[in-house]
Amino acid sequence: MAAIKLAEGIYSVGVFNPNLRLFDIVMPTEYGTSYNAYLVKGEKTALIETVHLDFFDQYLANIKEVTPLEEIDYLIMNHNEPDHSGSVAKLMELIPNLKVVASQAGSLYLKNITNNKSLAVTVVKDGESIDLGGKTLSFINAPFLHWPDSMFTYVPENEALFSCDFLGSHYCETTMLDTSILPRYKAAYDSAMLGYYTAIFGPFKPYVLKGLEKLKDLSLAFVATSHGPVLTKEGFLPEVMEKYRVWSTSAVRETKQIPLFYCSAYGNTAQLAEAIASGIRETLPDAEVACYDLTEQNMGEMGALLNASDAFLVGSPTLNRDAVPPVWMLLAHIDAINIAKRPAALFGSYGWSGEACKNLRARLEGLKVNVYAEDFRVTFVPSEEELANAKAFGAAFAATLA
Ligand SMILES: Cc1cc2nc3c(=O)[nH]c(=O)nc-3n(C[C@H](O)[C@H](O)[C@H](O)COP(=O)(O)O)c2cc1C
Ligand SMILES: [Fe+2]
Ligand SMILES: [Fe+2]
Repeated sequence: MAAIKLAEGIYSVGVFNPNLRLFDIVMPTEYGTSYNAYLVKGEKTALIETVHLDFFDQYLANIKEVTPLEEIDYLIMNHNEPDHSGSVAKLMELIPNLKVVASQAGSLYLKNITNNKSLAVTVVKDGESIDLGGKTLSFINAPFLHWPDSMFTYVPENEALFSCDFLGSHYCETTMLDTSILPRYKAAYDSAMLGYYTAIFGPFKPYVLKGLEKLKDLSLAFVATSHGPVLTKEGFLPEVMEKYRVWSTSAVRETKQIPLFYCSAYGNTAQLAEAIASGIRETLPDAEVACYDLTEQNMGEMGALLNASDAFLVGSPTLNRDAVPPVWMLLAHIDAINIAKRPAALFGSYGWSGEACKNLRARLEGLKVNVYAEDFRVTFVPSEEELANAKAFGAAFAATLA
């Protein structure tokens, strides 16, 4: 890839990684990604972010196409996750007088990421700016978009916003322009953009809305993100901003959603699930109460259902002194950032030692979930009386939600 001129004095100098299939452990990247970086040339010159360390040589070659290294004055780090900060230390070896600019949190992270406690970082606050001569870099705090350190950089002369992860996508478009994406690839871009939003910004919806609010009164010709194509006013920018707004606005729900998730080898825990559900329905007739056998379901969908619930229940038999793997897998999908205080209850059948509920409770309490004081447990096959008790347990739990 070569450097690409985007506007007068603004160049893309980042790199493509079309072969990437997994980002940050958890994000499938069917269409690869790009680590975007930009160069802004006024009388002085600023680089906006670096790239993943694996691609340093290509990044350097791109920069040199536009400007000699010794003419670069500033490095603006809008966000310091290593996909953007990975090459800072190496770049500084080549440009020792480079002035690194970041938010307060960013300066701290960068010192720890480069393992250089004496790294001089110029800290900029919301509303501050740097005059490059003919180009202004204005900084806008954007916490949690994607980390606490995140900020945006706005260049009013070009109506250009550098938003780092915000509004990005894991999608390679070799011209760096959304207007070049062919109509037949639009669906692929849309799905990459949704997957990216969900994984990166799904936990930070209130911050997304605050970020959009900050952009409301800015004139934007284009938003240069740090992954995927640059979003232009004529291209996808209005659509992507609107999608971020819609996806981050919680729907007002008329009814409570109370799913019960369980596994059951011989049907015992399954019987408890149905009995508890009937107790909940009796107390909260308007609630949406449904039982899900985790062995028959898509775990991602179950995780999403749990995360969107008003309250949830988890049932597991005890097998070999623990809850069973699909139940643990469900709990691995919990949105730990937003689950605190959510009401939950546990149940399960066991034979002799019965550790499942206790172990699940430890996990949920560790996530600050509000776990109902009692667990509902029976030994082996539930009797008629135990099923009646299970129903009463469901009713009592539901009464705490009314
Ligand atoms: C492979 C296996 C291992 C088990 N290990 C334990 C155990 O460590 N402790 C215990 O209390 N019960 C244990 N049990 C007994 C089950 O918890 C008991 O049969 C329970 O009723 C199964 O409920 P389910 O039909 O909902 O799966 C084990 C059962 C199986 C099949
Ligand atoms: Fe990030
Ligand atoms: Fe990133």
